[in-house]
Amino acid sequence: MINVLKGMKDRYFDDVKKYDFIVDTAKKVFTKYGFERIITPILEETELFRRSVGDETDVVSKEMYDFKDKGERNVTLRPEGTAGVVRAYLEAGLHKSDPVVKWFYNGPMYRYEAPQKGRYREFHQIGAEIFGIRSPYLDAEVIKMGCEFLEKLGITGLTVELNSLGNLESRKKYIDDLKEFMAQRLDKLSEDSKKRYEKNPLRALDSKDKGDQEQFKDAPKLYDYLDEESKKYFEDTKRYLEILGVKYVENPKLVRGLDYYSDTVFEIKSDKLGAQATVLAGGRYDRLLEILDNVKIPAIGFAAGMERAAMLMDESLLEQKEEKIYVVYFDETKEYFIKTVEELRKKGIKVNFDYNPKSFSAQMKKANKINAEYVLILGEEEQKENVVTLKRFSTGEQEKYNLKEVIEILNK
Ligand code: HAM
Repeated sequence: MINVLKGMKDRYFDDVKKYDFIVDTAKKVFTKYGFERIITPILEETELFRRSVGDETDVVSKEMYDFKDKGERNVTLRPEGTAGVVRAYLEAGLHKSDPVVKWFYNGPMYRYEAPQKGRYREFHQIGAEIFGIRSPYLDAEVIKMGCEFLEKLGITGLTVELNSLGNLESRKKYIDDLKEFMAQRLDKLSEDSKKRYEKNPLRALDSKDKGDQEQFKDAPKLYDYLDEESKKYFEDTKRYLEILGVKYVENPKLVRGLDYYSDTVFEIKSDKLGAQATVLAGGRYDRLLEILDNVKIPAIGFAAGMERAAMLMDESLLEQKEEKIYVVYFDETKEYFIKTVEELRKKGIKVNFDYNPKSFSAQMKKANKINAEYVLILGEEEQKENVVTLKRFSTGEQEKYNLKEVIEILNK
């Protein structure tokens, strides 16, 4: 027996119903804010992620599903959606004609991580990206849209965490000072943070290790390094969030795990998910398009983990009251049955039946078992008269109708 790969999952029945519900909900909410869907390939050149997500990040340095294809190209199963969407935007040359674009996407992503609750090697994201606008009102609006999407899934107990990373220059200065601060207490830091000191000191800031947290208490604060423009941008974003009625908490240690961010970053966390608490996360990435293609176009976006959203959503939203219809027939009336079912399906009516019908009572038992609202009986008499006996299960009432009348009743 060959099993599904570690960290991956088959999805069916309720899992798929939840996925469809999440995607439909996102579509409804995002469309209202002016977004259209984009579909990009799952496989991209490895270089795209190295240059956008960043060589030193965990995602690129440890977690990529990268390999050589048969043409000796280095390719990677996308670990996230932003890089591919940015590539598509640049490749289409949209920045030259109509630079403002709002796109959303959904689909599978791949990260070779240690699987645990809420963390998989194949997972799905639903994300949104906006190109061509730098405006604190947009940043607030994007966060509001993320909140509205999660609220429409019936998710409660969420906290919006917010921070500003400033621009690349101020962050560079901050990183230098942070490194100096870390160097003075390196022997007291966890092994993980020691490693991060060399390659990605910012990430050490959000270490979960209690000892590290103690050490970082008096670490320099990123906010103090922001230039005036970034500070004002951050303050304006917060003001607009307040106007939009979005509650948030500032988390000065929120630095995100991908390198492309500047200024606004945010994460929406749940109190019900344990260690993998972030359901939706994103931020502004005004320099990414310049890094990839020397194009000065600002951008912002977010992505939500669909598995995490599915774990948190209100399942009662899935219960649609579906009236079940069961068709009873016999070998002698099979052709009449087939034609009747055809007509019903043409009118959009879903029916249940047995492919190998047994006795009348066995079929009625099945109808009862699936909680059928109506039973359609297609016996020899009905066939002769070209009618259908319609029985309402709850009351036991039954009467003969022609098919047109049956369709009218069932469609009511
Ligand atoms: P991210 O924080 O790496 O950001 O991922 C976004 C969300 O995807 C996470 O908050 C989480 O819900 C989900 N996620 C990530 N890794 C896993 C995993 N291994 N298993 C299950 N769920 C996972 C990004 O990917 C950015 N591209 C977001 C963005 C869009 N920023 C700007 N635009």
